[in-house]
Amino acid sequence: MSEYITVEAAALSTPEAYRLLIGCVTPRPIAWITTVDAAGAVNAAPFSSFNYVAHSPPMLAVNIGTRDGALKDTARNIVATGEFTVNAATEANMELMHQCSAEYAPGESEAAALGIALLPGVAVRAPRIACSPIHMECRLERAVPLGRGLNTLYIGEIVAFHLSPDVYDGRQVDSVKLRPVARLGGPYYAGLGEIFNRPALAKPPK
Ligand SMILES: Cc1cc2nc3c(=O)[nH]c(=O)nc-3n(C[C@H](O)[C@H](O)[C@H](O)COP(=O)(O)O)c2cc1C
Repeated sequence: MSEYITVEAAALSTPEAYRLLIGCVTPRPIAWITTVDAAGAVNAAPFSSFNYVAHSPPMLAVNIGTRDGALKDTARNIVATGEFTVNAATEANMELMHQCSAEYAPGESEAAALGIALLPGVAVRAPRIACSPIHMECRLERAVPLGRGLNTLYIGEIVAFHLSPDVYDGRQVDSVKLRPVARLGGPYYAGLGEIFNRPALAKPPK
């Protein structure tokens, strides 16, 4: 293998660090998050600094950066209401999900502007996106400020899963039927490529 290029993280500017991170940590799952503001306007936006972080009870975490020094609408609504819903991003809803990343003014609903059909929240006030086959309703467990103040990790406990029978057989979710999309570095998304089946190993292989 040829020589590696070593990059000292301390020497990176913030945009350089961001560019490297989103290229190195890939593919990333996407949380298409719905929240409501104090006036009841529905906000929807995608976030790929996202994963599940606990399973007893089930918890998700999303890192939301600031914009021009202020909280993004999603973060502001999560802090104000203590609730959010994560909707799965799929090949079928990718264009709509992507459009939700545009900068709408605070209080202006992406859902209303883009005509996104919604289903009511069951356990939380944040509604669910009807064209997504999986919704995870969350209560904010804690918000953890990170680093120099640009990023906060919002950890949510899932209080209800809603699963379409199109992708769920009552026991597990079928990834092939779900057709999730993931975020790559740059302006790229990806679908599922080849799927490899390797049974879980309890002990080291002999
Ligand atoms: C696929 C995708 C993933 C994104 N991931 C993040 C993320 O993890 N954190 C973040 O702060 N912004 C992320 N963004 C940018 C936000 O979606 C964007 O700032 C959006 O306008 C925020 O909306 P809001 O102000 O309504 O919350 C992402 C955008 C796209 C298209």
